[in-house]
Amino acid sequence: MCGIIGIIGKDDVAERLVDGLKRLEYRGYDSAGVATVHGGAIDRRRAEGKLNNLVKELAGSPLPGTTGIAHTRWATHGAPTTSNAHPHATGEVALVHNGIIENFKPLRDELIARGRTFDSQTDTEVVAHLVSELVEQGASPKDAVRQVLPRLHGAFALAILFRSHPDMLIGARLGSPLVVGYGDGETYLGSDALALAPLTQRIAYLEEGDWVVITAQGAEIFDKDNNPVERPVTISGVSGAMIDKGNHRHFMQKEIYEQPVVVAQTLKAYLQRMDDRVSLPIPDFDLSAIRRVTIVACGTSFYAGMVARYWFEQFARVPVDLDFASEFRYREPVMEEGGLALFISQSGETADTLAALRYARSQGQKIAVVVNVPTSSMAREADLLLPTHAGPEIGVASTKAFTCQLAVLAAFAANLARAKGRLTPAEEKEIVRHLAEAPAAINGALAYDEAIEAMAHHIVPARDVLYLGRGTDYPIALEGALKLKEISYIHAEGYAAGEMKHGPIALIDELVPVICIAPSGPLFEKTVSNMQEVQARGGKVVLISDYDGVQAAGEGCLATITMPKVHPLIAPMVYAVPVQLLAYHVAVLKGTDVDQPRNLAKSVTVE
Ligand code: M6R
Repeated sequence: MCGIIGIIGKDDVAERLVDGLKRLEYRGYDSAGVATVHGGAIDRRRAEGKLNNLVKELAGSPLPGTTGIAHTRWATHGAPTTSNAHPHATGEVALVHNGIIENFKPLRDELIARGRTFDSQTDTEVVAHLVSELVEQGASPKDAVRQVLPRLHGAFALAILFRSHPDMLIGARLGSPLVVGYGDGETYLGSDALALAPLTQRIAYLEEGDWVVITAQGAEIFDKDNNPVERPVTISGVSGAMIDKGNHRHFMQKEIYEQPVVVAQTLKAYLQRMDDRVSLPIPDFDLSAIRRVTIVACGTSFYAGMVARYWFEQFARVPVDLDFASEFRYREPVMEEGGLALFISQSGETADTLAALRYARSQGQKIAVVVNVPTSSMAREADLLLPTHAGPEIGVASTKAFTCQLAVLAAFAANLARAKGRLTPAEEKEIVRHLAEAPAAINGALAYDEAIEAMAHHIVPARDVLYLGRGTDYPIALEGALKLKEISYIHAEGYAAGEMKHGPIALIDELVPVICIAPSGPLFEKTVSNMQEVQARGGKVVLISDYDGVQAAGEGCLATITMPKVHPLIAPMVYAVPVQLLAYHVAVLKGTDVDQPRNLAKSVTVE
């Protein structure tokens, strides 16, 4: 998954292309590149690593030209080197690609057999050669692209530049998003509206299989069967302002601190405080006939779904299936007609989740989507759109999107329960009251930041860390472990506390810190028993609980972290905070790249 942008401009475009890449860096930051046509030739600059390296390269060797394309890469095929950086070019054609060309190997062999030589190990370069070959034989750019697209298997968004036609770009989309932006005497291509935000707000979203020829005058769009089509132009409303860190050292820290506000903002859209009711953005969406919910997501969003499973089953008594999006389709799940499939995603572009959504649609499911980016592919394909109002999340490690997802899911579970006749008005009132307390409780959790920072040095030397939890604290344990591994590179695993004795307890020794998430409440004593089993074997425990819990079980722990006392319904939102802060401070102490950890990307648009 990568970010792509193309501009047909009135003036030189390199600087604006790089500005667009800054907005797309969340899609990958292994390398970056830009190409333009000038002086009758294609010229490009590419650099390994973060975008700054490309900026330096361009400062030393500027790139003129009023038509150009650019790319920020998350490596799939071939190491993150300069020669594998996009754009890939022949003398005639340069192109940038987001996605994977699955049949690149036979295509490459075929091209080599015809005498073409390759400069990279990427899957992408075959496309440049296939198009170039036809152009070299006299085909127009349009004809060449039309002939090549059906030969490509996999997922792609492409932007292609032609030496002999400096007044046009061709874009294509299959499985990876691509938008067309309409400016004043300029036209653009981009992976999303955010990339184009300072250039234009007038955006057309290409549909699956579409391809497009853009010139300064506008765009000619074709569908997968090459019929000319119109795609509606919408006003994106995405701000052109670059998002900054404010007074914070990292975006992740800023986003952790935004949680009280954004959770409140999100809840406002789902709670009617005046009459103590939960509500949905589409009030007449009928939930009463839903007999089964299938929840599908990846990563942190999956853990939000895991928490929600408890709520759907407990409140609404509706059976729930839960699966990783990357696994879901491959077990060919049996989905009863009329079920509800619920997809959770910050970006709304995660390729695995999007593919699972389309599978569920093909199985006659109603599609609900909990998503943070309202212009995303998932948002546009939903029957029931359940937005989180977290605002742009820039840190690769998801934090505020997670707590906002939990807020939406809790309110949605209550809506479902009411629609199924499982919730009395008094119970609904209680749920609304508890949810409304979440922002203040999250704020209360943030007050322990310094204490968490002070104990983070216990975790820094560890090679392995375990997180334990029970009930809805179990997904928080998994989330804590994910946060720690992705930004501090310390190996961490989350376990259901009661499962320890069935194997993982063999891992325990004094070098493996065990973070125990155990708010006082119905499951507290059982979790504490499991924690004591760990301590009895020399394990060093960090207990995260409330005052009562710490008083009852804190003795003998390596450290304790005290949270505000909260109702179990909102505990997952509140206990997410200390595990986020702990991972954050460990990463800062270790000096890792908190916002752009190695090997990752914010939005994973390849399967
Ligand atoms: O945009 P999505 O919520 O669909 O992304 C899913 C995962 O890629 C994401 O949650 C990932 O696990 C995060 N980096 C975790 O912090």
